[in-house]
Amino acid sequence: MLSCQNVARHSVVPASCSAGTLAFSPEAAARAIINAGQSSPARLARLQHLAAASPAAYDAPFALFPMNTPARGSLLGIEHLEANEILGLLKLARRMNPQKARPLLRGKRIVLLFYEASTRTRSSFEFAAKALGAITTLVQSSGSSIEKGESVLDTGYTLRAVGADCIVMRHPSAGAPHLMAQHLDIPIINAGDGMHEHPSQALLDAFTILKHKKSFQGLQATIVGDILHSRVARSACYLLTKFGVKLTLCGPPEFVPDVAATLAPGLRVTRHLEDALRGTDVIMLLRVQKERLAGQKIRLQDYIARYQMTTARLKLAKREAIVMHPGPIIRGLELTAEVADGSQSVIVDEVHNGVPTRMAILARALGKAK
Ligand code: NCD
Repeated sequence: MLSCQNVARHSVVPASCSAGTLAFSPEAAARAIINAGQSSPARLARLQHLAAASPAAYDAPFALFPMNTPARGSLLGIEHLEANEILGLLKLARRMNPQKARPLLRGKRIVLLFYEASTRTRSSFEFAAKALGAITTLVQSSGSSIEKGESVLDTGYTLRAVGADCIVMRHPSAGAPHLMAQHLDIPIINAGDGMHEHPSQALLDAFTILKHKKSFQGLQATIVGDILHSRVARSACYLLTKFGVKLTLCGPPEFVPDVAATLAPGLRVTRHLEDALRGTDVIMLLRVQKERLAGQKIRLQDYIARYQMTTARLKLAKREAIVMHPGPIIRGLELTAEVADGSQSVIVDEVHNGVPTRMAILARALGKAK
């Protein structure tokens, strides 16, 4: 069934990618999501039923709601954040202690709206909200009216009507949180939209890098793997290059098309892992996103042979280089178990840092960034 929640997730980013750019347009994304919603059989049937009762009102349902600018405190992406806003969030995150509850958001209702699988992001947003005294509720595609064909926006209006003060949202379509933010008057936090952005992950990664490396100055970082399909990589590219980090993207052309170098100023693309690792301080590995490969032929054995992070390859990087991965990790694919559990790995620390970082994001969203 074609509907808002399973609209072709490739319709926005790769279409523009094949045209020689990786640019993201919120308008095009919104159109793709709305059109998909309108062509859902369940939605059409419901609209026809409603139209019989009140023809004029339901002819163009979404035209009834003008587009607005997102509510203050929304976090939709890293691309348009100023460097000082990022530093402000990181500073706030450093002051957050998940072990010591602070009732900054007492009584606030935060909805975790997840149209896609999640372990780390969902649980850390939930613990972050609760550590600040907020009330949370989880709405997932299965077990909610989304399963019955309710559109993204109708779900948003419903959650607002029950009293949501903020929505943390993950969706397989690029632009879905932007669409929501343009139609609701409460802050929307993007917890990952298709292959577009994952801002809270980029912030917790920056938090982790600064914990281990003290400053971004003079840093060299390398992202290895499925960059094309990765919202984590996109947000990391935007963030790290804003602070002058020298960033190299490494992988086969199927995962790192040449056009990826245009994502942010100063990016370098290489196909050779040895070349990418030399002199690097930070190595960020990515999962091969099988669910987003859409018929692309990539032989995993070839990928492992050329790009898997092994102990021997890790020696090519700086001695004190850190190994990062947003998770979920697939041992034996993008990295070996020895590297995952080795002394240079900060993968568990990244997960740990997700809670204070998301506490800062939520406090800022609800105007309590003190
Ligand atoms: C990632 C995601 O879902 O974007 N994980 C995460 O949020 N930590 C990366 C992935 O799925 O590989």
